[in-house]
Amino acid sequence: MQAVVNPIAERISSISVSSTMKVSADAEKLRAEGVDVVDFGAGEPDFPTPDNIKQAAIRALEQNFTKYTAAGGTAELRKAVCERHAQDFGTSYQPSECLISAGGKHVIFNMTQAVLNPGDEVVIPVPYWVTYKDVVNYAGARCVFADTDEKEGFVVTAALVEANLTPRTKMVIINSPSNPSGAVVDRGEFEKIFRLTVDRGIYLMTDECYCKFLYDSKPFSIASLPGAKETVLVAGSLSKTYAMTGWRVGFGLVPSSLVTAMTKLQSHSTSNPTSISQKAAVEALRGPQDSVGLMLAEYRRRRDFVITRLRAIPGVTCAEPRGAFYAYPNVSVAMGPSGMRSAQQFCEKLLAESHVAAVPGEAFGTSRHIRISYATSMHELERGLDRIHKFIAKYS
Ligand SMILES: Cc1ncc(COP(=O)(O)O)c(C=O)c1O
Repeated sequence: MQAVVNPIAERISSISVSSTMKVSADAEKLRAEGVDVVDFGAGEPDFPTPDNIKQAAIRALEQNFTKYTAAGGTAELRKAVCERHAQDFGTSYQPSECLISAGGKHVIFNMTQAVLNPGDEVVIPVPYWVTYKDVVNYAGARCVFADTDEKEGFVVTAALVEANLTPRTKMVIINSPSNPSGAVVDRGEFEKIFRLTVDRGIYLMTDECYCKFLYDSKPFSIASLPGAKETVLVAGSLSKTYAMTGWRVGFGLVPSSLVTAMTKLQSHSTSNPTSISQKAAVEALRGPQDSVGLMLAEYRRRRDFVITRLRAIPGVTCAEPRGAFYAYPNVSVAMGPSGMRSAQQFCEKLLAESHVAAVPGEAFGTSRHIRISYATSMHELERGLDRIHKFIAKYS
């Protein structure tokens, strides 16, 4: 039998394996061999999903809510999303401007595929969340990477965005608080970025995945500005806010014509998001919200601990995360003398020798940093940071 000629489609080669998922897989492999691994790789809350949300899913099962739903999500959930967003941020979305997908990632995939044409440019501040680059490439569009300044805490400014706009720009992506740096774009600066996009008639995608996890400012949505609904594309997720990563529920708040386009695409891929998860999501959005504040308080305690410990390692610098649950230290002090040339090599050695899993900065567009997720227990943070301290001291 003859082998298939060109067996894999060319567009697949425009994307790469998610590095965050690879780190988790490598750590899991070591663990299966009996090694005591401390895992700072996983970008997910270590808290269980709140009980009221789990009970809603159980009720959905008992009531046989287990069939296909409308492709773009149930009317009940789309209404609940709009109401929650209105209550939290003062926006005025209608269910016809809302789409539910299987996680925020799926929303972002649908969004980029539905609006980008080959040759379009998308401004992506660096460091960036891994997936933006791949989904933009997959759409055949071009990423324009805009380097933020580490000394300024990696914060995205309107001046930086403006310097990277061209007549071909179709979209700017802002993720505040940021994965991986925890940097937050303050309201005033965000408004300036919004004005730039309005003036040019281009989309501003705001990834609000971590919007509730802010340490020293109040959550806001740029979509609450007058006139924002035409050009602002909200990508939201319940994954982190309600510790629901495995349930796979995300939402888009976008112009209704785009909801139609994204739903069309989704209807031919996953159809609807899981029926049971959608019922759970309604409870998450409409039920008590106190678990969010409790998680935030715990993340703050851990952030303070992690930053203090990292800054105590000679030669290591770390910008203060103002949101989300990641620290993004510069570990280049251990690179030169040891022969390690990249964060990738640093993380491989750190895992092999000290049994700590962290994600190399290359996944986020920089080569001298590692991402540490502090969505793990204080006990694990203590153990892991002890190991990192010794590892860096040995190689610097
Ligand atoms: C910045 C950012 N946006 C979106 C997502 C998507 O999350 P999910 O697909 O679990 O909703 C993530 C997940 O890690 C993220 O870090």
